[in-house]
Amino acid sequence: MPDRSFERILVTAALPYANGPIHIGHLAGAYLPADLYCRYQRLKGRDLVFICGSDEYGVAIMVRARAEGITPQELVDRYHPMIEEAFARFGMSFDHYGRTTSPVHTETSQDFFRRLAQQGTFILKTEQQLFDPEAGLFLADRFVRGTCPVCGYEEAYGDQCEKCGTSLSPLELRNPRSALTDATPELRETTHWYIPLGRLQPALERWIDTKKDWKPNVLGQVRSWLQDGLKDRAITRDVPWGVPVPEDVARQAGVDAAGKVIYVWFDAPIGYISATREWAARQGDPDRWRTYWQDAGTRLIHFIGKDNIVFHCLMFPAMLMEHGEYVLPDNVPANEFLNLEGQKLSTSRGWAVWLHEYLETFPPDLLRYSLATTLPETRDADFSWSDFQTRVNSELADILGNFVNRTMTFAHRFAGGKVPPLVEPGEVDRAVLAELAAFPERIGAAYEGFRMREAVFETMNLARLGNKYFNDTEPWHTRKTDPQACANTIHVSLQLCAALSVLMEPVLPFTAAKVRRMLHLEGIRASTPEGPGTGRGWDDAGHPLLEAGHPLGKPEILFKKIADDVIEAQVRKLEAAAAAPEPAYEPVKETVTYDDFARLDLRVGEVKRAEPVPKSKKLLRLEVDLGFETRQILAGVAEQMAPEALLGRRVVVVANLAPRKMMGLESRGMLLMAEDRDGTLTPLIAAGEPGAVVR
Ligand code: MF3
Ligand code: ZN
Repeated sequence: MPDRSFERILVTAALPYANGPIHIGHLAGAYLPADLYCRYQRLKGRDLVFICGSDEYGVAIMVRARAEGITPQELVDRYHPMIEEAFARFGMSFDHYGRTTSPVHTETSQDFFRRLAQQGTFILKTEQQLFDPEAGLFLADRFVRGTCPVCGYEEAYGDQCEKCGTSLSPLELRNPRSALTDATPELRETTHWYIPLGRLQPALERWIDTKKDWKPNVLGQVRSWLQDGLKDRAITRDVPWGVPVPEDVARQAGVDAAGKVIYVWFDAPIGYISATREWAARQGDPDRWRTYWQDAGTRLIHFIGKDNIVFHCLMFPAMLMEHGEYVLPDNVPANEFLNLEGQKLSTSRGWAVWLHEYLETFPPDLLRYSLATTLPETRDADFSWSDFQTRVNSELADILGNFVNRTMTFAHRFAGGKVPPLVEPGEVDRAVLAELAAFPERIGAAYEGFRMREAVFETMNLARLGNKYFNDTEPWHTRKTDPQACANTIHVSLQLCAALSVLMEPVLPFTAAKVRRMLHLEGIRASTPEGPGTGRGWDDAGHPLLEAGHPLGKPEILFKKIADDVIEAQVRKLEAAAAAPEPAYEPVKETVTYDDFARLDLRVGEVKRAEPVPKSKKLLRLEVDLGFETRQILAGVAEQMAPEALLGRRVVVVANLAPRKMMGLESRGMLLMAEDRDGTLTPLIAAGEPGAVVR
């Protein structure tokens, strides 16, 4: 274990994109291990700040918003609070959860950008880039798809091929097409700022060389990036969503700042700094963030998933180094990926367990524990509902729950609900107390080394030890044959429960609180920023925490076993979501007579104009030539089709439908459309002259 001296710890967990809810893959990759670590360190009494927040910019957010027919701001306003709430219910103990659309973040990232620009870190390059003439946008990153030049996958993105993992730039794609309009892009000239990672590579290499204690999966990826040679990376984009490029910087460079924003992977990690500033302000000590980010005594640790390694191990450190006033990460304990029931997680396929849905059915601690025992620390790991059930029933309930329950029950039945004194302890009693003394150190070493699975396994081993001790000393016999021996068993078992209530706190915080309530155990330091920062903590848990005579509270059941049908229901739910069941056909309506039908006047019409209705998401305004007259018709299809899809086409119109007003405009008639079961609309195209009767 590295034992550099440090005075404080700054922990970050990757800022999740605010474009969807949190699922177990996120939790296993970054959030749960980060929370385990922070809670442990707080119990150790360390000075620690734990930072996270929502990553709200970037092209992924724009694409998603467009698909949902809302603005990016509306999208992040929906998901940011939802993510924040789910995290809180899961027991994430952040000191601050920020968001990158905050004004503090705009200022912090612009200042950072300005500083590097002014000191000459960046390179300015004017180059041809892909431009979508239909959408009027440059096609950065995920706005463009095409064939991967490395593996031939046809759906590769402009920034990365998800099939082979190669990182790409849009111009490297073969047969590029716009992800927005499917148009074939043209080349247009534009100017951007680049961070010269090539020039910074030697300094990064020297720094990485000092990181002997980093996880092998992390160092492996970093070395392979370095081996390939780092390329300069554009850190600005021509898109309408992001932190604006500071105007003064652009002016000095002779570039028009209009429409240019900072690249999301430049601003997002600065989000850690912005959120720390917001935290400091909230503490009433606005400059305190500097202590954590700029004083040498800080140990900075980034918890992330493996897809973020290059940004946290090379790009952000390069930014921090160039700035010069910041500490660099001390460790980046990235995890591999979590699979689900043996298959890759896929949010688009519905193959995921969503945190907010999980929490509707089960308490947070069960997931915290079962995930912690299967974290993908060294290789990809698998979550399955049946494993979840086994962890809950055979470990939490049968080992931990059982030990606490039998101890409490005996204390109430045979020791008057008080901690009996330990008198002339036998060899077994003393041996167990001696073993207990070693646990805080042993579990702690695993947490310090980012071996969370091991830490949690060792924690459960203390409960295993308790059960074994209880069985070996047989208090149900000694209570008749040797009451003092029975009392000693109860005493020692209660001490183990008390120790467990501290040592299990990182992984099972809600259960730990319950156990302490049962034991009436007070004066324990909190593992969250809200609770008391003083009191007995991690190291004290190696020694008896309860005094003889201490009165106990009522026993409560800690864990209910989960029945098979509950687990089966979860598996079915997952399979149903993934199978995206064939939607049903609409039933045929009631029979009508020919005369009923003949009352409809259907005509061929030619669409002469088609345009969006201002301020309406749904409506298109059409002018349709019916031969004998031209009509204004409003069609509620703007979310499904572009005006061009209708322009110039001959369509079928219900000509004698009563006029209707919408958004202050009169609609006289209706276009016939076919609606597929998935909601896709296609206009009915008719041959025949405008005005022709359809019957
Ligand atoms: N939003 C990114 C993701 O989910 C992570 C950003 S981490 C930060 O992959 F450092 F940039 F904030
Ligand atoms: Zn590829």
